[in-house]
Amino acid sequence: MEPPVSPSPSHFVRIEGLKKRFGDFVALNGVSFDVDDGSTLALLGPSGCGKTTMLRCIAGLETAEEGYIEIGGKVVFDSSSRVNLMPEQRELGIVFQSYAVWPHMTVAENVGFPLKVRRTPKAEIRERVTRILKLVGLGDWYDRPATQLSGGQQQRVALARALVHEPRLVLFDEALSNLDAQLREQMRMELKILQDRLNFTAIYVTHDQAEAFALAEHVVVMNRGHIETVGLPRDVFHRPQTPFVARFLGLNVHSGTVLSVGRVPDVANHEPLDADDVYAQVRLPDGETLWGRIGQDSPPRPGDDVLVCLRREHLGLSAPSVSGGIATQALAGRNGFIGTIRASSFLGLTEEYVIDVSGGELRAIQPVSGLDAGDPVAVTVRPCDCIILSEHRTLKATQRADLKKAG
Ligand SMILES: Nc1ncnc2c1ncn2[C@@H]1O[C@H](COP(=O)(O)OP(=O)(O)OP(=O)(O)O)[C@@H](O)[C@H]1O
Ligand SMILES: [Mg+2]
Repeated sequence: MEPPVSPSPSHFVRIEGLKKRFGDFVALNGVSFDVDDGSTLALLGPSGCGKTTMLRCIAGLETAEEGYIEIGGKVVFDSSSRVNLMPEQRELGIVFQSYAVWPHMTVAENVGFPLKVRRTPKAEIRERVTRILKLVGLGDWYDRPATQLSGGQQQRVALARALVHEPRLVLFDEALSNLDAQLREQMRMELKILQDRLNFTAIYVTHDQAEAFALAEHVVVMNRGHIETVGLPRDVFHRPQTPFVARFLGLNVHSGTVLSVGRVPDVANHEPLDADDVYAQVRLPDGETLWGRIGQDSPPRPGDDVLVCLRREHLGLSAPSVSGGIATQALAGRNGFIGTIRASSFLGLTEEYVIDVSGGELRAIQPVSGLDAGDPVAVTVRPCDCIILSEHRTLKATQRADLKKAG
């Protein structure tokens, strides 16, 4: 039997090599990460990737077959030394997507329940419930029946109930998903303020990338039970490291073949982000070429098949001139290629275009341009915004360091 890993004081939560199966199905396949004290970590990923299972294992509502979980310096689960604390011994709060507000109780009874089960004296329950209800904006609702609450108010009750015993770790599972867009944004801001005041550490599960980026100091992207990437929101957003992350973030992903690797020659719209970035010229399926930034370590070699990833908002569209030789003229020496508008949809300040290009379709979002279905279009992109990834990932050194740090 391996000795238990010694608790580390630098992180509030530490998870190592967590494995969980349901029958033959592997829901968590050796997941490791850390969460810094007082910070928020977002677990992001598509439906079924294992986010809820992860939270349930941390909470003690599910038992992993293998791994180690430490919360606030206390080992709460360790398969090698058979430690497995009960949920109530893990001293955390949970907010689920379904508010689970009990209809037969008043607002105060709902919120005070975690204190009641901990046998807190009545006067203290009253004081704490009053204080937390005020904090979540339900100060006047103390004695009202929970059935009178709107969806947003029920969500606040669920939040108050998760926070009332002042846990140092709070787990959120799609906690705001049932709210309308406006209320969601408001609650997001309020959560940040609450966290600053109460100073808890949070693990926030969502499949909404905007929510993850807005709330968290670190983002973990999960894919089929493993961690696909981990990093700062800015890095995960601007520098997706794997095709899975690029697709999950909604980038256009197209195949191409590397022609050359090196310095970008005279391309009009070349504005390097970072002097250390390496660029490659890629041939697209119809023979057009494009310069892009290599997103992973160990640059691909000429002849290698790669994926070209383009964010919809980074594409510039312009109508080529109507006279002959439209294609090259329209690009005017810029990095880009020619396509045909298939459809457009009005989004308010912007319009989304579906563009037929060689090898498939492409989506672009930009201010209303007057382009119509059937129009030829020049699609331009700065080489730094065109991310080149290999299907077989080799992580950048920075990300390897992150992953190592994360577990
Ligand atoms: N109790 C269970 N028995 C069998 N399979 C389960 C059980 N719980 C979860 N799974 C499976 O494990 C996988 C991960 O489920 P999980 O609920 O963790 O996903 P998720 O990332 O939270 O998805 P969503 O975004 O839809 O909530 C799914 O394929 C699910 O069917
Ligand atoms: Mg879930």
